[in-house]
Amino acid sequence: MQMDKSPPTIIYILLFLATLLYYIFSKKHTKKHKLTPKLPPGSMGWPYVGETLQLYYKDPNIFFSDKQKRYGEIFKTHILGCPCVMLGGPEAARFVLVTNVDLFKPTYPKSKEKMIGPSALFFHQGQYHSQIRRLVVNSLSPQSIKRFIPGIQALAISAIDSWASCPHPINTFQQMKKFSFEVGILAIFGELEREKKEELKKNYCIVDKGYNSFPTNLPGTAYHKALMARRRLSQILEEIMSERKEKKLLDNDLLGHLLNFKNEEGQTLSDDQIADNIIGILFAAQDTTASALTWIVKYLTDHPKLLQAVKSEQKEIYLANEKGNKGLTWTQTRSMPLTYKVILESLRMASIVSFTFREAMVDVVYNGYLIPKGWKVMPLFRNIHHNPEFFDEPQNFDPYRFEVAPKPNTFLPFGTGAHSCPGNELAKLEILILIHHLVNELRWEVVGPQDMVEYSPFPVPQNGLQARFWWEPNTQEN
Ligand code: HEM
Repeated sequence: MQMDKSPPTIIYILLFLATLLYYIFSKKHTKKHKLTPKLPPGSMGWPYVGETLQLYYKDPNIFFSDKQKRYGEIFKTHILGCPCVMLGGPEAARFVLVTNVDLFKPTYPKSKEKMIGPSALFFHQGQYHSQIRRLVVNSLSPQSIKRFIPGIQALAISAIDSWASCPHPINTFQQMKKFSFEVGILAIFGELEREKKEELKKNYCIVDKGYNSFPTNLPGTAYHKALMARRRLSQILEEIMSERKEKKLLDNDLLGHLLNFKNEEGQTLSDDQIADNIIGILFAAQDTTASALTWIVKYLTDHPKLLQAVKSEQKEIYLANEKGNKGLTWTQTRSMPLTYKVILESLRMASIVSFTFREAMVDVVYNGYLIPKGWKVMPLFRNIHHNPEFFDEPQNFDPYRFEVAPKPNTFLPFGTGAHSCPGNELAKLEILILIHHLVNELRWEVVGPQDMVEYSPFPVPQNGLQARFWWEPNTQEN
């Protein structure tokens, strides 16, 4: 009898089932792969502490740029107790800050929110944020800030006068902080009684000292003192507001805009909401502008030829104004091309706001990578400003590079999108005015070490840039 060589039917059935299972499984597998994009490359460091120690141990700028070199423009890490995705490219910054703002909310530590006040606009998004922002943008627009020029000029003259009268070196950053605070007060309140201004200044300084201290609310700690001073600030602001309301002063300054605000339903802002926003704006304005000014003094000191060129640009305006006897005009502040480029290049080099924080409100996929819900997202402005693809020889201080406009989204000293800086025109105006008086009327030398960078939290030259200032010969006869 001949044997049947064909395999039994059961084998066919098994083979068929195996193929079917393989097919189903592999389909499922690819599907799963497609639905679950991977996390960006990078290291999450040690359990709990993540990479926080490395961040503090190294200069944060070196930490971020080393990471970008190793992993590329998007990478993950774990710092200050939070898993984070860092974004070092212009498109990614635009994705988070401009085109997908609804997916990412602003995020700050609770202790900072408590200190400034929870109603400050930058803690919010949506309708409340855009309503307050509109007021701030309007009252700090070029059209509105023109009228501050005489006031800012008087503050600049008084500042440099005090530096030249000081027999010993001064901390440039601390002096610039005094100046930028006064300009902030001017922009918010217009003219303010001396006594009220001094009270505000005294308490604001205590809040400022406690803001970056460890948040332990025990009597005697800087944080506790700051919270007490913050309460006092609210009281002073309430007094100023009720005086304004009594006198029905509908001034056109920022406080006036906040007091006059009514939404579509006719609701006004509470005193607490106004106070939180005023303190928030003072915070946003002071250290940033003071840090920029301090870096400009350092860069001009380091580049004597450039300083000479800036001096001759400014001297022409000074002489046209009868050696400063006539005030600067808006048109003159708009005709300082070299000084303006020095400001832009200083903002690029120093990248005062090196990065910002947002939090993903849902799982987001960017460029094939998953940004999980709840993770922090940090667009790294400094990495963009120091990328040789966008800025040739980025470590060189070269204001003339700004003769050609930077590529879109590569120059973001004031951020971009829904939360970009509404104070940028005021900041540039006060810097131009201070530089005008500084280079025309004073000479200076930097003393002591100045090559390291300190963080306050914004970058500042070592020891705040200690410098000695004296009058430029022939200027005092005015
Ligand atoms: C050189 C000086 C300054 C720099 C480098 C700077 C930088 C920035 C940056 C990068 C942002 C965006 C932050 C983010 O997206 O998270 C911002 C926001 C802000 N800045 Fe400035 N700033 C400066 C001066 C000022 C001044 C003078 C004022 C006000 C008088 C001001 C008021 C604000 C406010 C209120 C916000 C929050 C805006 C919002 O959330 O809608 N800043 N600033």
